[in-house]
Amino acid sequence: MLEALVELERRRDAARAGGGPKRVAAQHAKGRLTARERLDILLDPDSFEELDMYVEHNATEFGMAETRIPGDGVVTGSGTISGRLVFVFSQDFTVFGGSLSERHAQKICKIMDMAMKVGAPVIGLNDSGGARIQEGVASLGGYAEVFQRNVLASGVIPQISLIMGPCAGGAVYSPAMTDFIFMVKDSSYMFVTGPDVVKTVTNEVVTQEELGGAITHTTRSGVADLALEDDVEALLRTRVFFDFLPCDNRAGVPFRPSADPADRIEPGLDTLVPASATQPYDMHELIAKVADEGDFFELQPAHAANIITGFARIEGSTVGIVANQPLVLAGCLDIAASKKAARFVRFCDAFSIPIVTFVDVPGFLPGVAQEHNGIIKNGAKLLFAYAEATVPKITVITRKAYGGAYDVMASKHLRGDLNYAWPTGEIAVMGAKGAVEIIFRGKSPAEIVEKTKEYEARFANPFVAASMGFIDEVIMPNSTRRRIALGLSKLKTKKLENPWKKHDNIPL
Ligand code: HXC
Repeated sequence: MLEALVELERRRDAARAGGGPKRVAAQHAKGRLTARERLDILLDPDSFEELDMYVEHNATEFGMAETRIPGDGVVTGSGTISGRLVFVFSQDFTVFGGSLSERHAQKICKIMDMAMKVGAPVIGLNDSGGARIQEGVASLGGYAEVFQRNVLASGVIPQISLIMGPCAGGAVYSPAMTDFIFMVKDSSYMFVTGPDVVKTVTNEVVTQEELGGAITHTTRSGVADLALEDDVEALLRTRVFFDFLPCDNRAGVPFRPSADPADRIEPGLDTLVPASATQPYDMHELIAKVADEGDFFELQPAHAANIITGFARIEGSTVGIVANQPLVLAGCLDIAASKKAARFVRFCDAFSIPIVTFVDVPGFLPGVAQEHNGIIKNGAKLLFAYAEATVPKITVITRKAYGGAYDVMASKHLRGDLNYAWPTGEIAVMGAKGAVEIIFRGKSPAEIVEKTKEYEARFANPFVAASMGFIDEVIMPNSTRRRIALGLSKLKTKKLENPWKKHDNIPL
């Protein structure tokens, strides 16, 4: 008996050693943690239960029969974060560069299947050289098995990808199909083809970092949601983020007790909107004053910053926040902002997270580039997402709500449940000056000024919309948190279903 126990420990130690001390040292020298060290930080202490630690690859070509390392380059299992169950896989770069073999893929698929059965999120820590080159098509098949599960799990359990090393080739498509991607600065990259192939095909010279580093993907491409300083920060922020998410699409939002009074009055909000309609202000201030303890987890802060998306809590329960940001592009909706917010709204709707929308939008961004790159179809994504969402939707118009963008931003007409406006709200087809210049084309500048004043007096307020019932109530800015909290508690039992369909056809 004792011998068997010793043998078990020997096997466990062999698996835990990964690719050996030299490769572990090389991993540390790059400023990266090992697969197991990462899980130690991500999960609650002593909560990790590893599965499949003795799994080995089944390849025989290229001398692979003689090089088998237990675990086969990925550590898989489950644990808890703040006491809630989560399934995890963590690729071990010290074993065959974390590359994905058939068996490696089977391990990932096993924990994904279990997560689906029990209704728990999956977090993948990606650090891999891609398909295991020695295995050829078996490895490609392995990727596709993972992809298929990503798709079936989408909208059922939250899926989070941390990119903590290389992620190249088709391997980027599994993270791309998960809900959120966090990257580590100067240490992780994602691209379909690397700099060498790019040089050969297009003659462009680019570094890995420029092509697919954390800054590139969280600013330009919008592929990733956050760029974190190092492994430790990425893992700790993921823990904070996880606390906002439901376990699955039936569990409802998590609750964290809060001592912040729901009826907290914020007199500072009464002067947030500047006297001049063209002067910007920071919408983050409103969000911070409305959220429990001012706590807001923003996603994609550096991409399409003209719209703000992220999670907060009201009376302890998670809400999704979408807000135009007057500080950037005057808060206009453009292609990037529409795509960013649409995906966020759809995540919230899939997981029954109520959506609070703060509106100050002068319209869609005009321009040849916007039109040629498809603002019509891309803007429609956000319109579609809001219109199909059945979760509680509360909207507060702080200032401008012009044109089509008024309709899009969770208006009453798109089944907004409670649509409020501040007294500074301006709900109109367009800004007064633009409107007058069209209606009174050819009039003298003095007449235009005169008519603009008239138009402003008539339409630059929330009461025309309120008189039609499109705005449910014009509220004091200082009472915004109280109104939203009251609304959300009223809407807790909301029941609304869309007509049966196989699935919709959102303008992709
Ligand atoms: C097998 C691999 C591997 C791979 C790395 N290794 N990638 N083994 N298959 N794909 C091994 C190396 O042989 C080495 O083994 C160890 O991992 C560390 O690799 P190094 O090259 O020494 O590390 P580094 O210098 O940090 O470079 C990392 C790297 C590079 C940039 C990831 O290894 C690389 O370019 N790998 C190949 C990437 C690639 O082309 N993958 C296929 C993409 S196509 P030893 O024993 O020396 O420690 C693809 C298709 C998916 O993924 C399709 C899905 C639809």
